[in-house]
Amino acid sequence: MAYPSRNQPNQTRSRSSVHYLILIAFAAVLVFKVDVLISQSIFAARRRVSTARRFVRPTYHSTSSSITGFTHGTFNRHFILSWGEERAKIQEHGELLTLSLDRKSGSGFESKKEYLFGKIDMQIKLVPGNSAGTVTTYYLSSEGSTHDEIDFEFLGNSTGNPYTLHTNVFSQGKGNREQQFFLWFDPTEDFHTYSFLWNPKCIVLSVDGIPIREFKNMESIGVPYLKDQPMRIYSSLWNADEWATQHGLVKTDWSLAPFTASYRNFSAEACIWSPRTRKSSCDSTDPKANSWLTEELDSKSREKMKKLQQKLMVYNYCEDPWRFPEGPGPECAIKTKNNDKSNTDTDTNTISSSITNSKNNNNNNNNNNIVARKPRRSRRRSRSKGGNKVAQIN
Ligand SMILES: *[C@@H]1O[C@H](CO)[C@@H](O)[C@H](O)[C@H]1NC(C)=O
Ligand SMILES: *[C@@H]1O[C@H](CO)[C@@H](O)[C@H](O)[C@H]1NC(C)=O
Repeated sequence: MAYPSRNQPNQTRSRSSVHYLILIAFAAVLVFKVDVLISQSIFAARRRVSTARRFVRPTYHSTSSSITGFTHGTFNRHFILSWGEERAKIQEHGELLTLSLDRKSGSGFESKKEYLFGKIDMQIKLVPGNSAGTVTTYYLSSEGSTHDEIDFEFLGNSTGNPYTLHTNVFSQGKGNREQQFFLWFDPTEDFHTYSFLWNPKCIVLSVDGIPIREFKNMESIGVPYLKDQPMRIYSSLWNADEWATQHGLVKTDWSLAPFTASYRNFSAEACIWSPRTRKSSCDSTDPKANSWLTEELDSKSREKMKKLQQKLMVYNYCEDPWRFPEGPGPECAIKTKNNDKSNTDTDTNTISSSITNSKNNNNNNNNNNIVARKPRRSRRRSRSKGGNKVAQIN
């Protein structure tokens, strides 16, 4: 294409400014169009994401190499493999993710986006067999020294002994809010759903849809709440045999490596944070459209949760005077206020459990591994002396 020569000496000033004007107008139209185009495709993409769950996922009958390039499933869309090189893998067209750990390294992944509030479900199947020394983490975290964080951590165990589900909540850099649980099933046999509900009112951690822990917004009594810092989803599988299993007494058996944990069926309703505009995608939408943003436990499910905690909670920072001689955080006072200490073991049906024999140990067993790398003695078992009791859940 031939461009007009720029060196036309007889070109008048006004003519050249007309040219410039046309150019500017053209550029403006172009920029505007591109903007519209981008926002339209973002909108379309969002709509696709939000309607995707309503459709039955297509099944791929072929495993031939012709579709190996097709890797645009859920995990590809929402996560990146962040460390461990080939130990972290996205498989089955992006619908399955596996992390593995060997003597040399563990592995991990994280979400591409940051979120400011969300209702986030993930199905996880943990390292089977002798998983002693391994820790699988699944958590939300912001960045920086005064970060917010909500944790699920699964501490492995020797064959036949139960995993410990360790939970914690950090607000503005301060954690020390550990609660640990045994599960009412073997988390290595199949996938189970681990969920965060995180909204301006409360945080609820659930397992298979059953709430196990609640952290309310208690700013009114001076407890900082997680509401200003966007967080990413992270997960990792790593070796922590210095402290993880029975105080670090049980080491990782490397002859069994690689250890593998699997993830599938990620789904989330969340407010996506834009680092550029510093706005959340929920700011502009009708709050009523996101009912999870105001969701809370009702008194019935809170009662149910407390019953479950009485049976399965093996450590509670709120009840650890050894660690907190001055008393735990003010949020504990609220939590224990309407604690029903009466015996509630007599109702509901029973779910058979792999942990039946796990609680026979006496109270001085000192298996506490609450503070990572710094085992301490505590009274963690004082409340969960339940012997062979098995979880009872409706
Ligand atoms: C492992 O099993 C032992 C024995 O049942 C139990 O005391 C301990 O809490 C379990 N979990 C960990 C992480 O050690
Ligand atoms: C996947 O997750 C959704 C929402 O959490 C759930 O309804 C569905 O049953 C799950 N699918 C499988 C195969 O577990």
